[in-house]
Amino acid sequence: MKGVVLSGGTGSRLRPITFSMAKQLVPVANKPILFYGLEDLAEAGIEDVAIIIAPQTGDEIRHTVGDGSKLGLNIEYIVQDEPLGLAHALKMALPFVDGDDVLMYLGDNLVKQGVADVVKDFERDKPNCQILLTEVEDPSQFGVAELGPAGEVKRLVEKPSNPRSNLALVGVYLFDQVVTEAVNSIQPSARGELEITDAIQYLVTSGRDVRPSLVTGWWKDTGKKEDLLHANELVLTDLDGEVLGEVVEGKIRGAVRIGAGSQVVDCSITGPVVIGDNVHLARTTVGPNTAIGDGCRLVDTSVEESIVLDGAEIHGWSIRNSLIGRGATLRGAAPAGYAEVTLGERSEILGE
Ligand code: G1P
Repeated sequence: MKGVVLSGGTGSRLRPITFSMAKQLVPVANKPILFYGLEDLAEAGIEDVAIIIAPQTGDEIRHTVGDGSKLGLNIEYIVQDEPLGLAHALKMALPFVDGDDVLMYLGDNLVKQGVADVVKDFERDKPNCQILLTEVEDPSQFGVAELGPAGEVKRLVEKPSNPRSNLALVGVYLFDQVVTEAVNSIQPSARGELEITDAIQYLVTSGRDVRPSLVTGWWKDTGKKEDLLHANELVLTDLDGEVLGEVVEGKIRGAVRIGAGSQVVDCSITGPVVIGDNVHLARTTVGPNTAIGDGCRLVDTSVEESIVLDGAEIHGWSIRNSLIGRGATLRGAAPAGYAEVTLGERSEILGE
């Protein structure tokens, strides 16, 4: 089986962070989202993977992921010049798939259970297509599946305004070679894209075997800040503590990772919290559910339920539910109480 990982898109719902970085490279618990999916593929025994990239962010993804050898994968890159839809991206990957089975994974999705079990089921039962479903509160934001009395897939609709169920399509799809016919048989949707949901609906309509499986652990589409912060919290739940840096005075509770070369002076840290390498923290309160990237500097600060990217500096602010871009700065007179901040790369807020 081959893997196709979609890593294009503009990340408009994560601006301003995504003005300067690919949404799939935004870190969750200090690891780019995309790596979770790639590791899932490796764990499932998939070796050959194509990553579909956009011209705007593709170079950064190539540079960060490389040839995949560190992950045990052979990775090649395919540029999708325009965002013409998920099924269009898969269509572009067909020469790479070359008639093999394929698992398509959306690079901004996180699936707690991974994909090893679903790959095993697919290889054992050999349906034409297997989809993953999960119950959500807001189905109209996703592809939605309607199942029949025997649990069979009856209908799939992309982002319906009146959803017929609360079962959303998770961004992991497996196909055998019928995928070629499916992606070549559909027309662009009202938003001008070739929808993967329509390609699967085509298979249902033409009587192919489309199997649903319910996701047992959590699943997150990290397209929005709230979802990204929630994903950070979910991943951190499983964190094992480890202190490599130096801790001077202060208090550390719960699962806390502190990277090499980091210095934590007179701080109170309540896990789960992950702190990268070469970070300087002084008189600062951190956590829970917070990730602080490499090379950050936080002084007289409180941070909870937040993601702070590499090289950011915060002096004298209290923030929660915040997303602070690479090399961004927060300093000067801070608002009273906790602020919720989203700050783009190398941007500065200098207080009043
Ligand atoms: C895409 C799919 C949708 C699916 C979702 C999962 O939506 O079109 O069917 O439920 O991914 O993340 P998008 O996030 O691109 O709007």
